[in-house]
Amino acid sequence: MLIVIFGLQLHLMDLQLQGKTALILASSKGLGKACALALAREGAHVVITARNREALDTAAEEIRSLGKGKVLAISSDISDAAAAEALVAAAAGTFGRIDILVNNAGGPPFGPFETFDEAAWQAAFELNLLSVVRFSRLVIPHMRKTGSGRIINIVSLSVRTFLAGSVLSTSMRMGVAGMAKLLSDEVGPDHITVNNVAPGLILTDRVKDTLPPHSPDEEARLLAERAKSIPVRRIGRPEELGDLVAFLASPLAGYITGATIPIDGGAIRATAP
Ligand SMILES: NC(=O)c1ccc[n+]([C@@H]2O[C@H](COP(=O)([O-])OP(=O)(O)OC[C@H]3O[C@@H](n4cnc5c(N)ncnc54)[C@H](OP(=O)(O)O)[C@@H]3O)[C@@H](O)[C@H]2O)c1
Repeated sequence: MLIVIFGLQLHLMDLQLQGKTALILASSKGLGKACALALAREGAHVVITARNREALDTAAEEIRSLGKGKVLAISSDISDAAAAEALVAAAAGTFGRIDILVNNAGGPPFGPFETFDEAAWQAAFELNLLSVVRFSRLVIPHMRKTGSGRIINIVSLSVRTFLAGSVLSTSMRMGVAGMAKLLSDEVGPDHITVNNVAPGLILTDRVKDTLPPHSPDEEARLLAERAKSIPVRRIGRPEELGDLVAFLASPLAGYITGATIPIDGGAIRATAP
């Protein structure tokens, strides 16, 4: 589409998401909400979910205020098997189809290997790996019905590069990346793509929570300190990740599958994929 304003020519890419339905997990704030906003901005109907009802309702209002697709907000714990089934059934029941699944979740705690017991590993497994398995399994039949689909997993740059203290996250994300590669091979013939998005440092509450104790006026300096090792010398914005996810979710990205795409300002120093 070409729009001319005051002599300036703006080329707008139509992502062809109008009328599609997207289920975005863990989406009351941070990266999940940014994905929901980006997809809704393109005209998709979005189903958002998180445990805290109040934050979820606030996010739903923000998305509705775009005046685009419809929003269904369901409070749910994505690591609960019965709740996952109910959520997918509600999404499909409301919109009659599920075209896009964004497998996002809260992040597991950071710390050295020896600080995590069986319970911590089990919780990370259920939240960050099993939820991806479950939701993918639940939505694929809906995608097969419509003849196409997009599964996008939010992982972490730790699938490509060393990130100290991230043993729970790295272990689960490596499992997701492996599963996505195999799954992309199996569902490719049904025009369903499966990709991973690997964020580096993107400014969300989770990142703010990892800063050392500080007064409000010290926050900008501490964040700038964290950005020093990133080639583009800044922390990413959630909407930058949202835009990438919206593109991967679109019909335009039909030839991208089984891929892990970093969005990290160049932070991954590895030269091999
Ligand atoms: N931000 C980054 O720089 C970055 C980098 C690499 C990887 N990641 C990963 O990306 C994911 C999202 O990170 P973020 O920075 O956006 O985190 P965030 O700002 O803390 O947001 C987390 C979201 O997940 C929801 N959530 C958490 N546990 C849930 C559960 N059991 N069921 C349903 N919803 C749940 C939260 O809502 P409720 O608490 O109300 O449920 C909230 O909406 C995490 O897995 C994180 O490890 C982030």
